[in-house]
Amino acid sequence: MSAPKPALSAVANPVVTASAGAKALSGALTVPGDKSISHRALIMGALAVGETTVSGLLLGEDVLRTGACMQALGAEIKPDGELYRVWGRGIGGLTEPADVLDMGNSGTGARLIAGLLAAYPFTSIMTGDASLRRRPMERVITPLSKIGARFASRAGGRLPMAITGAPIAMPLDYASPVASAQVKSAVLLAGLHAPGATTVTEPAATRDHTERMYRHFGVDVESTRLANGANKVRIVGQPELTGRKIVVPADPSSAAFVVVAALIVPGSKVTIRNVGLNPLRTGLFDTLREMGADIVYANQREEAGEPVADLQVTASKLKGVLVPAQRAPSMIDEYPILSVAAAFADGETRMEGLAELRVKESDRLALMANGLSACGVNARAEGDTLIVRGGAAPKGHATIAVHLDHRIGMSFLVLGMASEKPIAIDDASAIATSFPGFVSLMNGLGAKIADVAASEMPAVA
Ligand code: S3P
Repeated sequence: MSAPKPALSAVANPVVTASAGAKALSGALTVPGDKSISHRALIMGALAVGETTVSGLLLGEDVLRTGACMQALGAEIKPDGELYRVWGRGIGGLTEPADVLDMGNSGTGARLIAGLLAAYPFTSIMTGDASLRRRPMERVITPLSKIGARFASRAGGRLPMAITGAPIAMPLDYASPVASAQVKSAVLLAGLHAPGATTVTEPAATRDHTERMYRHFGVDVESTRLANGANKVRIVGQPELTGRKIVVPADPSSAAFVVVAALIVPGSKVTIRNVGLNPLRTGLFDTLREMGADIVYANQREEAGEPVADLQVTASKLKGVLVPAQRAPSMIDEYPILSVAAAFADGETRMEGLAELRVKESDRLALMANGLSACGVNARAEGDTLIVRGGAAPKGHATIAVHLDHRIGMSFLVLGMASEKPIAIDDASAIATSFPGFVSLMNGLGAKIADVAASEMPAVA
C-alpha cells in the first residue's frame, strides 16, 4: 500500500527538520507527563466537587485542548507554579459550551469527551485538525447512542459532529468489538452519569488509567479477566466525587523514543527518571528486552495508583523477534519506534495484528513501511503485519512526510541519529502534541537535530 501524497504545507514550506548522526547519548533526564493520564486528570477534576491538584501534567497540545474543552464546559483550571488546580462542577454539573469544541489532533480528547457529552442534555459540536477529521468515531457513536445520545456526523462517522446528550443517561452493558481504551473510557465516562451499573467488556485488556483514576476518586470499579482473555469493567454511576491530588508520571510512550535512541546510538548510556510502568503500557520495553536491550528498572515505586521507575538504558546489540498480536494493546503507540529499533536488529522482526495502526493519527503501518524503505531499510507491510529486516546502519538520506503524526515525526528523527546520512521530516510541529521540547531534549543528550533548508535534503519520499 502506498503512502498518501505529501501535504501541501510540506511543499510550500522551504524548511525541514533534519537529524544527523548523533554522538553517544549520555545524561539523566525527565520526559513530559503521561498524555493518557493527563487527559483523565483534567476530565475527572472537572467532574469532582472542590479542588483537584495535578502535578506533572503534560503541557502538550492534545492535553491543552482537553483543558480548554473542560473550561468551555464550566470547569475552572489554573496553573500555580508546577501545579495545575482544577475546580470541578460535580457529576451532572457541566454546562453547554458557547462555541465549537476543537480537539485539535487528539483522538483521546475527542472520544473521551464525546462520552462525557453523551450524558448531558445539550448539543455540542466537535471538530479537530485534518488528521482527527479522518479518524473513525463510529466506535464511540455506536455505544453512546445506546445510552440515549444522538449524533450527526460527516459520512463514515467523521468529525465535525454534533452531539445531543441523553436527557437521562441510561446504564449500559456494552461488549466492544475493538480493544480500545478510548472506547472503554467513553462508555465509562457516560456511565459515571447514569444510575446503577455500567459495564464494558473489551476483547483484550487495554490501558486501565480510567479505572485507576476512578478508584483514586472513590468510584466503585470492578475489573474481571474472562477465560477468553476479555476484560470486563463494571462501575456504579452517579457517585459524589470530591477533588483529589493527582501525580502524573512521565509518559512511557514518550520515554520510548529516548530509550530506542540510546539503544541504537553506539556508546550511549541514559537514565530516564520517573517513567510510568503500568503493566498495560510496557509491551515495548518487554519486546526490546527480548531483543537483547539493556534496560534496567531502578528505584521501582508506586505514585498515585500507578507504578513508576527510573529507566537505565545502555546501547545494545539487538536481534529480531516475533511480536505477537496479543501484545498490541500494551504497546499500540510504540510500533513506529519499535520498527526503528528493528532496523538495527539482526534478522527479521515481525509485528503482527496491527489493524488499529491504520486508524491512528495517520496510517502508521503504511507510513512506517514506506518511510523505512525510503531510508534504505528492508521493511514491508503485509495485511496487518509489519516486517522489518535489520542489521547494519541504514543509509538514511530521505525526507519523510509525517502527515500531522507526532510519533511518525519522532521515529524518523531517532532513525536519523544512527543512520549513515541525515533523515529529515517535513513538519516537526506535530511533535508538540505529546512531547513538547523533544528536539532540545534530544540535542542535550547528544543528538544533532536542526531545521535546514528543504533544498539541502532529498525531496519528500
Ligand atoms: C489512549 C488509547 C490508545 C492510544 C492513544 C491513547 C488513551 O488509543 O493509541 O494514544 O489515552 O486512552 P485506542 O484506545 O483507540 O487504541
